[in-house]
Amino acid sequence: MKSTALFASLLWVSLASAAAVAVPMSAPVVPAIAAFPVPEITAAADSDTENQLSGPCRNVTFIFARGTNEDGNVGARVGPPLIADLRAALGTDGIAAQGVDYDASVLGYLEGGSPSGITTMTGLINTAAKQCPDTKIVISGYSQGAQLVHKAAAKLTAAVTARVVAVAIFGDPERVGTTASTLPPVGKVPAALVDSFCHVGDIICTGEGGATEHLDYDENAPAASAFILGLL
Ligand SMILES: *[C@@H]1O[C@H](CO)[C@@H](O)[C@H](O)[C@H]1NC(C)=O
Repeated sequence: MKSTALFASLLWVSLASAAAVAVPMSAPVVPAIAAFPVPEITAAADSDTENQLSGPCRNVTFIFARGTNEDGNVGARVGPPLIADLRAALGTDGIAAQGVDYDASVLGYLEGGSPSGITTMTGLINTAAKQCPDTKIVISGYSQGAQLVHKAAAKLTAAVTARVVAVAIFGDPERVGTTASTLPPVGKVPAALVDSFCHVGDIICTGEGGATEHLDYDENAPAASAFILGLL
């Protein structure tokens, strides 16, 4: 653990100084966090994989894209605690959780979000809309997963966009260089339906700071859950 942390901080120092010298404001600032192996947070009861879109239609369909190098299809850092909070509120039969299966590689992050992941997420949203005409669709993503949310949402028709009732994104790389009043859009989803969590000092969404603040968005799961529940 100690050597991982040391390696991480050394890597971040060098990346941060390289970024300060060489990278224009509008470019993705740093080759993420995921350039080194991050220790997984193990939450015993929570699964890193959710595939309920293949099951029965439920009142809410929650489609989540995990961050770079996370395991399964919802990862460990944000997806499972948020899904657990939503299940606690809606009942396990009230929500169908579905992760986006994609490679979640560093390369995908550097490309602005894995192109195949964007296609897969778009397909999942369209499938939910088509096969479950009454379900309310919530889309969510962490880190590279937030890039997927932006780019998948941009591909939706107006009719499917209207089925999206809430969006929650965490540590969004596309926020770098923006201000709170000019947050990047999530397709044509109205801004009032979007909650974007970005910690001060999270270099991935602010362009300044380090890695530590990018790794604890689990602490925002209750607020994100409350935001989503308020829009159902
Ligand atoms: C789905 O929503 C309806 C209307 O709010 C509610 O009556 C029903 O109990 C919900 N179903 C489940 C399984 O939570």
